[in-house]
Amino acid sequence: MEVIIQSNPEAAADLVARIVARELHANPHLVLGLATGRTMERVYQGLVAKHREQQLDFSLCSTFNLDEYVGLPSSNPNSYRHYMDQHLFRHVNIDPRNTHLPNGVAEDLERECELYERAIQRFGGIDLQLLGIGKAGHIGFNEPLSALRSRTRVKALTPITLAQNAALFGGEEKVPRRAITMGVGTILECRRCVLLATGADKAEILARAVEGPISGMISATALQLHPRCTVVVDEAAASKLTEVEYYRWIFENEPEWREFRTPQQPGQ
Ligand code: GLP
Repeated sequence: MEVIIQSNPEAAADLVARIVARELHANPHLVLGLATGRTMERVYQGLVAKHREQQLDFSLCSTFNLDEYVGLPSSNPNSYRHYMDQHLFRHVNIDPRNTHLPNGVAEDLERECELYERAIQRFGGIDLQLLGIGKAGHIGFNEPLSALRSRTRVKALTPITLAQNAALFGGEEKVPRRAITMGVGTILECRRCVLLATGADKAEILARAVEGPISGMISATALQLHPRCTVVVDEAAASKLTEVEYYRWIFENEPEWREFRTPQQPGQ
């Protein structure tokens, strides 16, 4: 795992957008794993800007989202399909047929989960998976006690998650109780993952996810098992980490990060 600390939420999201853009340049057929949540909105703004200003090309790229609420059709403004259309898909030249989210209103949810796993396989697996982190320490909707080898399935949401997302639904009682989510095992199979966390309210869980013991109670700790996982945070989210000086040294000195150390120039 690598931890990259940026001075503010904008810089952190911008770095993630640059990582995605770089991977997409290197491989136009990139299979991109996407996440939702407020934190990711800035990343998608950055990608849309790169598409508009630097012709970042999504035409050959395919996407798979981590999760979707059970019971919400794509027309529902709180569905993750709607979120993705709003924040990314409709603003870039991606082929809608190449964008995938679990269908939260499928008649047979178990079958839907199986088909989702198969579709990921058919596209050759996920090259780069974006991740946020919930206050319960989840990645996707892998709530506490998610098996570290779990696959795409229906998961009941914890009270912490319901509370975290209540404002978006206009009340906790309106938040769907269940979601389809890629499993922890599904996520761990991606070739590279990038987790973005910003803000002081993520500091505690982020420190436990990165520096704490691996546990099914905090599914984000499973990322410690991933061979190529980058965690990008702002100063506020980094405030409870203990090895901060070491993380800063790596970003400032390792050649891999050279091009990301300086602010991006127009056209880059
Ligand atoms: C939801 C999503 C997660 C995301 C989390 C963080 O729970 N299922 O994938 O990481 O929100 O949301 P926010 O960025 O709004 O804090």
